[in-house]
Amino acid sequence: MQSELKRVVYVSEKTDVSDTTLKDIIASSKKNNPEEDVTGCLLSGSNSFLQLLEGPTEFIDTLYSKISRDNRHENVITLCDEKIDERLFLSWSMKLAPFENMEWSNENFNSGNFLNITSEEALNMFVRLNEYTRK
Ligand SMILES: Cc1cc2nc3c(=O)[nH]c(=O)nc-3n(C[C@H](O)[C@H](O)[C@H](O)COP(=O)(O)O)c2cc1C
Repeated sequence: MQSELKRVVYVSEKTDVSDTTLKDIIASSKKNNPEEDVTGCLLSGSNSFLQLLEGPTEFIDTLYSKISRDNRHENVITLCDEKIDERLFLSWSMKLAPFENMEWSNENFNSGNFLNITSEEALNMFVRLNEYTRK
């Protein structure tokens, strides 16, 4: 039987804005996520991260608690934590999504500030990014 799937979306404040940090995070994701059937999408903004994680419930819970304790960011706020039937991001162990070239309704998102984003706005962004990156 296929295990239950869930989706978690969170926003957090960067404590370190270096490119090396981002490279390390992506390297960990590429190493760990496929082993646990985790997929998702990460937006690295000017001052914040916005991430969507999808996969088997037990793996997502463990990963999210590990990520929450990571000191490369702080003030991690859960925007969405729900059971899902289907994933939005099927094929990416962790897609580092380019969002800068797209027009967002909120000026803050264009400049990579996701700190005050609502759950609905975050999900809408991922839906649009998913459509855009599939092309
Ligand atoms: C914004 C952010 C997103 C992260 N996303 C992932 C992820 O999708 N998968 C992952 O394995 N680690 C991710 N990490 C890193 C984890 O917190 C942790 O450092 C890593 O999983 C440790 O992996 P290791 O035990 O293989 O060294 C993320 C960290 C941050 C700050």
